[in-house]
Amino acid sequence: MKDVKEGIVLGVCNALLDISANVDEQFLKKYNLERDNAILAEPQHMPIYDDLITHFNPDYIAGGSVQNSLRVAQWILEKPNITVYFGCVGDDKYAKILEERAKADGVNVQYQHTSEAPTGTCAVLVTNTHRSLCANLAAAIHFSIDHIQKPENKKLIDNAEYYYISGFFVAVSVPTIIEIAKTALEHNRLFIMNLSAPYIPLAFKDALEECLPYVDIIFGNEGEAEAFAQAQNWDTKDLREIGKKMLQLPKANKKRSRVVILTQGKDPVLLIEKDKISEFNVPLLEHDKMVDTNGAGDAFVGGFIGQLVQGKSFDVCIRCGIWAARQIIQRSGCTFEGKADFKE
Ligand code: AP5
Repeated sequence: MKDVKEGIVLGVCNALLDISANVDEQFLKKYNLERDNAILAEPQHMPIYDDLITHFNPDYIAGGSVQNSLRVAQWILEKPNITVYFGCVGDDKYAKILEERAKADGVNVQYQHTSEAPTGTCAVLVTNTHRSLCANLAAAIHFSIDHIQKPENKKLIDNAEYYYISGFFVAVSVPTIIEIAKTALEHNRLFIMNLSAPYIPLAFKDALEECLPYVDIIFGNEGEAEAFAQAQNWDTKDLREIGKKMLQLPKANKKRSRVVILTQGKDPVLLIEKDKISEFNVPLLEHDKMVDTNGAGDAFVGGFIGQLVQGKSFDVCIRCGIWAARQIIQRSGCTFEGKADFKE
């Protein structure tokens, strides 16, 4: 393992505690949810969290997309505090659980705290191997740019060399994203984003478009890529074509070519670069080994970043992403144990 400097990766997203339980189709119907939703909670969904806690004995798992990825990257890297995380939480016991779990996994969490709302939660409703996500951002939406302007946090931003922000976060603070992206641009450092969920390119089209010129690596899954194409009025569902069109969108840092990486569940991962498209097969996982796919995409990015910061090729980064996702789907939520034994 290469010696990687502390704080080299900086991530920003919504800090959420996952409240995860196995439920039946009736429960999904009760709240008008589908088996594979990833949505923001509306007033009709607010009783879900108490319902889960009262009737389903749920698991509480440190969640939030980028925080998941950083926890997985730390698992790969072994040395604590390679990654730094910003997100906003309330002043409550959920914030303490979240911080304890993320720190135990080696992430240097530097939360902003608000008294305006409780810590955000995400209901993870598992039916067989499917998962439906319903996020109540609560405190997470109170993240404000002054957090990154504090001298101690500015120092962390200046020290980092890789920046990873979720598409989810465009719903919260575009000015924060742009300020960090401008630091990346100024120093020719890597700025990475994820499309995160189909509703992001559709419902937050303008906000996402403001950030995209700064993005060097775009991650997404097939549903998110199709939603992106639909939002852009591109008349195609062909992932290769969508990826190539994403490469052509305006880009601020001319010293780096953009790269698009699209996952498609058990089907090959696509690496779309300026002059070529590569496919990476996903080894078959027997159905009885799958627990749930919750966090698969986040784990993929975590595995990728864990290798990227060691200076490994995209080929190795993607194979480690596939390996990490495979571990996570054999467990409940984005969790892992023991030593990460990925072999290059
Ligand atoms: P969730 O969306 O469940 O996690 P994810 O990491 O995005 O995983 P998905 O199951 O959606 O995977 P994917 O579709 O992205 O990727 P793919 O299937 O292609 O979200 C989890 C977290 O999101 C929660 O912790 C929650 O807190 C957070 N969250 C929700 N709302 C939020 C919000 N508003 N703000 C912030 N956070 C929020 O799979 C990826 C890879 O996995 C594949 O390439 C492959 O390698 C592997 N893989 C997948 N399926 C298989 C298979 N069948 N066999 C073998 N390998 C597989």
